[in-house]
This record gives sequence, C-alpha cells and structure tokens, in this order.
Amino acid sequence: MTTTIRTAKTRGVGASIPRPDGIPKLKGEFAYSSDLEAEGMLWGATVRSPHARARIVSIDAAPALAMVGVRTVLTQEDVTGSGRFGLAVRDQPVFATGEVHFWGQPVAVVAAEDRETARRAAAALLVAYEPLEPLVDPAIAARTGSTFRVIDIVNGDPGARGEVVVEGEYEVAMQDQAPLGTESGLAIPDGIGGVDLHISTQWLHADHAQVFEALALAPDQVRLHNAGVGGAFGSREDISLQIHLCMLALRTGRPVKMVYDRSESFVGHVHRHPARMRYRHEADRDGNLIRIEADLLFDGGAYTSTSGAVLANACYFATGPYRVRSVAIHGVAARTNNPTAGAMRGFGAPQPCFAYEAQMDRLAAALGLDPVALRLKNALGTGDRLPTTGQPIVGSLPTRTVIESVAAMPLPEPDESTDPRRLPGGTGLTTPRPAVRRGIGFAVGIKNLAFSEGFDDFSEVRGVLTTAGLELHTAACENGQGMVTVVEQIGRSASGLDRVTVVFADTSEIGSAGSTSASRQTQMTGGAALRAATAVRDEALRRVGGDRLDDSGVWRGDRLVASLEELLASGPIAHLERFRHPLTSPPNATGQGDIHAGFVVAAHRAVVDVDAELGVVRVVRIDTAQDVGRALNPLAVVGQIEGGIMQGVGLAVMEEIVLDQGVMKNASFTDYLLPTFLDAPEVEAILIEEPDHWGPFGAKGVGEPPTISSTAAVVAAMRNATGRELNRVPVRPQDIALGSHQPPATSHQPDRRPEGS
Ligand code: MOS
Repeated sequence: MTTTIRTAKTRGVGASIPRPDGIPKLKGEFAYSSDLEAEGMLWGATVRSPHARARIVSIDAAPALAMVGVRTVLTQEDVTGSGRFGLAVRDQPVFATGEVHFWGQPVAVVAAEDRETARRAAAALLVAYEPLEPLVDPAIAARTGSTFRVIDIVNGDPGARGEVVVEGEYEVAMQDQAPLGTESGLAIPDGIGGVDLHISTQWLHADHAQVFEALALAPDQVRLHNAGVGGAFGSREDISLQIHLCMLALRTGRPVKMVYDRSESFVGHVHRHPARMRYRHEADRDGNLIRIEADLLFDGGAYTSTSGAVLANACYFATGPYRVRSVAIHGVAARTNNPTAGAMRGFGAPQPCFAYEAQMDRLAAALGLDPVALRLKNALGTGDRLPTTGQPIVGSLPTRTVIESVAAMPLPEPDESTDPRRLPGGTGLTTPRPAVRRGIGFAVGIKNLAFSEGFDDFSEVRGVLTTAGLELHTAACENGQGMVTVVEQIGRSASGLDRVTVVFADTSEIGSAGSTSASRQTQMTGGAALRAATAVRDEALRRVGGDRLDDSGVWRGDRLVASLEELLASGPIAHLERFRHPLTSPPNATGQGDIHAGFVVAAHRAVVDVDAELGVVRVVRIDTAQDVGRALNPLAVVGQIEGGIMQGVGLAVMEEIVLDQGVMKNASFTDYLLPTFLDAPEVEAILIEEPDHWGPFGAKGVGEPPTISSTAAVVAAMRNATGRELNRVPVRPQDIALGSHQPPATSHQPDRRPEGS
C-alpha cells in the first residue's frame, strides 16, 4: 500500500494550483500550432484582395506555377462541395469569386516546398480587378437595408416618462483581439481521400462541420485535432485557413502547413464591432430610472459571422445592470465592405456599457447625486427581471455587492514621483508632474453566460478510469484561459482521485464541447466533467462495495478493498456525459423571453493621471469586484481579471484598427498599439462568491466580465480629470487636448433634441 496519498482536497476545487502548461510555456517548450511539423510538408500562402470591393476580371496562375518549388494554386473553381462557410450562416465563399467584398479577402492559395517560395508565388499570381465603390458607412448601409439583423425591443410601460433627461451619443472604434499567436495549422492527408487537421481554434466541431461541408467530404473523412493556441479572445471562432489547408493537403497529397504573418493575421480574423450609439435616459427626481431609449448601430462588415448574436447581446444588455420601468431599444447590424466583425471578449456587451455608464454619470450630475449612489439605487438583482427581455433573474446577481465592494476599496495615494515611467506618456513624452491631473471613474457591466436565444448548447466529456488515474476526454479548446486546470480540479473533487488529466480528443473520438467562448467552458465542460467524474466514481464504488475512491483504489472505511488494477480487472469503467445548461428560448416579436442561461456582473473603479495639454494618460490603478459564483481556482480567476482588464484598458486609451475606405492602415504591432507591461495598471480584485444555480460547485464563467466595464471606468476617470466629454473610444490625444469628438450619425432615426434636463 502506498504511504503517501495526496488527497484531492489539496489540488481540487478552490485550490490556486498552477496551470499544467504554464511552465512549458514559460520555458518555450510548449508546442503551439505554429510549431508543428510533418515529414515532407509543404507551406501554404494566401493571395488576398488589395481592394475592399472589386470585380475579379481574371486570375492567371501561370507565373506562380512556373516558379521552382511551387506545387499547386487553388481558387474557388477547385472547391468540391458547398464552397461556403460561416459560423452562423454559411454566407462566405472559400475564395472570392466574381466580386471581392472586403480588403484582404482570400482569392487563391498556393503550396510550395518552403515558406518563402509560397509567399513569392502568392505575390506572383496575376489577378486583374475592376475596383468598385465600397460601402463603408454603416449608417448608409442601415438606411439602404444592407443589414444582417435588426432588433427592436419594447418592454414596460411605453408611456412612462421621467422628469430628468440626459441624452448622449457614443462611438466605439474597431478593436482587434490581437492574439500573440497568429493563425496557423497543419493538414495531413490520410492517403485515402481524407485529412487530419491540427489547428488552433476555439471550437473544433464547428470548424469540422464547415470543412467537410465546404469540401463535400464525409464527416469521418475530416478529423480535427486541437493544437496549441496562442490566444484567441474571439478571433478564432470563425474559419480562417482551415479549409484552405485541407484543400492543399488533399490536392498535393502532402502535409501542408500555414502560418499567417502579423499583418495577415489582422485581416485573417474578425474584429470587435465598431459601434455608434445614441442614448436617452429618463429618471424621476429621486434618481429612479424610468425609461431608457437606445439606438445602436453596429458595423458587421462584409459577412455575417456572429453579428446577429453580438447585436442581440448589445440590445439585451443595453440598459446595464439596472432596473428600468420602460425600455425601447433599436439595434442594427449593418453589412458593409469593411472587415468582418464578430466575436471579441465581451461579445456585444462592452460597447453599450461604455455608453450607458457615461449616461449614468451624466444622470447623476443632472440629479446632483453621487454616481455610486445612483447605481446602487437602481441595481438589478436576483428576483428582478431583466428590463429588456423581462426574464426573471433566478441565479445569483450581486450587483449591489460588486458596487459596494469596489466603492469601499482604498484609493491609492497621490503620486508625487517624477520617474518618467510613472508619468503620463512614459519615458518617450515629457509630462511635467505639476501638469498631471488625477481622475477617478466608476463603472458596472452585465452580460449573459453561455449561449442564448434557444441555441442547443452542450458539452461532452468522457470520464475513463485507468490504472494511472482518471482521464477526462474532451474536444474543448484550451485557449490559454485555464480550462484544463479547472476541469482537472473539478474531476479531482468529484472523483476523489488526485491523478486526473484532461485528454484532448479529436472530432472523431467525442462529440462537441461547444465553443471556448461566451465565458462558457468552466460551466459547460466543467459541468460535464463533474457529472462524468461522479459517475465513474459511483461505478467504481458500486463494483466492489466501497465508500471512497483515491489514487490507491477503492476504500471501505480504512481498508483498501481494491487497487485500481484489481478494480479494472473486471472490466473498464467509463462514462460519457453530455451536459446542457437550462434551456433558453428565442425572443418574441418585441424581444421578450427566457433568452439567457445566466448572468454575470462586475464593477471597476479606475484611477488615471492625465496631462490634459499633451493629451496623454496613464492608467494608474483598477480596482474591481467580480461576481464569480464560486472561484474554482482563485489564482486563475485573478489571471483572467488582470488580462481582461488589460484589453478593456487598451480599448479605452489606444487600441484601434484605422480604416480608410475599408482598407486597414495599421495592420501591424508597430501601428496597432497594444498595452504592454509599462502600460499595465495595478489591479486589485475582490472575488464575490455567491453560488449560481447551474455551474459546477456554483461557478460562473469569468473570462469576459473584466473587459466589459473596465473601458467605461477608465474613460469616466479621464472625464473626471479633464472635464472633457470623451464620448468615443479609444480616447485619442486630440480628444483630450482639443475637446470632444463629434460622433457620426447613428442610423435612420430622426434627430433628437440635444441634451437637456
Ligand atoms: Mo468570445 S467573444 O465569447 O469568442
């Protein structure tokens, strides 16, 4: 008998254990998808449109094919199946044909013996275009009916009116997920007409279906395998090079690898929806919210992607985590010739949060109320109904608690340091300390958890007991967020075993785990793991009449009745679990229904230092309280909070894809600015643990809430420091130094009165 038995308690739920892939990643030993190689492999490269909209007159592959080392050139003519893909709607051709709809749209791919030859061959391909006028203004698109989805939500007493009114217009620019690992993968033909694709993605089975449909292959002829993911944040929900790689491998009969370079990555994935928003808030004299009207115009770009669901989220959460008597929300996802927009951390929630939280501050000023007090007065909680959909909130929703917790956190001391690293602008810009003004801003945000509107959302996990411990097989994607760690912890707490490992299964071995998105894997794959591990343990105990399982075997009292070897001698123990969250429904004609599986809130308070003359800012500190249900791994939760806040800070002060007639002007890390260590504020986080109704051990997803209201809090702090309106993110130096930006028109509604009270 073993003398040292590590109990599950130490590495189970609630323990801040490190990630299994953490040290390999730090040491550079972890294999990302871009590190994969196969014997005899070719390299692929993509030919992309230099126009946002154009007619393809002709494609001449001869100059590329004539180059030494070039093996094939493929266009839409070579696609064997439906030839189309798309996450929600299959509306995107594998290659542009006839007309190009966005800048950088793939027109052809080549395969060559090495990467450089593939690139040169792609450049040598002759494509003749007739440029056409691109549609780049989403307001014009909305007016002319070029839309992916239009939503009108009306709820509550339509005649309700408040005495105190504030109106505002807000704009959010296009943010990129900017994953450090670019799109990459390796396709290996099986020699009998099928293909294995090793790919970094967020949703193996969604990619799988799009590949075999587009190419008219049988589902079992295409097998997708998880490969190491270098960040995602929504950018890997849609197809990029998956179909191209499989086509090249099948055509050449050789393994083919592709890795996008940095600038190609910017056009190779979707982006956060740019948004123009107009709001009207009405309250009574006591500060009770009476009515909110909002007009939300989202630019969906060229293809559908997830625009419908993103817009729906924006509309359902357009009023924030507040009780409101009457709401009227109008939302449009416009179709333009701009780069396609889709999923990015927060998925439609950050844009309205930036607007409604600015409105709450304006309302507080108009009422002469403290902004925190106004939020507390209207805070939504368990037992209330979401003001837009009317859905009763049955799980935990500690809006009051997150607000009060942040408000009670100590503020940092005034900074007197003249160290340039602690001054706005940093070492490159010379702000004198006396020119620095400090500002403090507050914001709260809300979002749904998992998939909504009646989507059949599930995750499969197979628990397999071996003599080495418990394996949890899943097709879920580990994007760096910590799914593997948390699922193993759940398995330990459920089974009693310490030796629990996640095994990545391919699409032929197990059913879908759903997407690593919507903050859903802890609850969904974690939920499936909890049930699978519990079922395996119960079967083990039943088989030999035990009362406890651990790494040694099955115990009855203090006696080991069967080792794992003895237990499994009478047959394997395995259990396949398909976990679903509470059913949701699509909305009725005015937007009501039980549309969401659950809700989550977080609050942020930002402290900033601004030089209002130079227009530069330093985000000093973010204090946050987040509704986590139950922290299954507090260290991992804080990791998500710190990373998510950095993306929120980035949107507030620097991250923007600049477009000119649909063409990206800054598709590089030189010109698309990302926060670095030097831009990182101190972060202090309080985890609010009020167990939710369906997540394992009461857990909620934690990935997106940090990004939703951190942007709004930073800009509120900048307003506090400067007195400027700052109704657009990212805030640019000229907005601070020279005054407010005037946002362009929203959509097709008549002009409303300017702000009054
Ligand atoms: Mo994430 S925006 O839910 O892919």
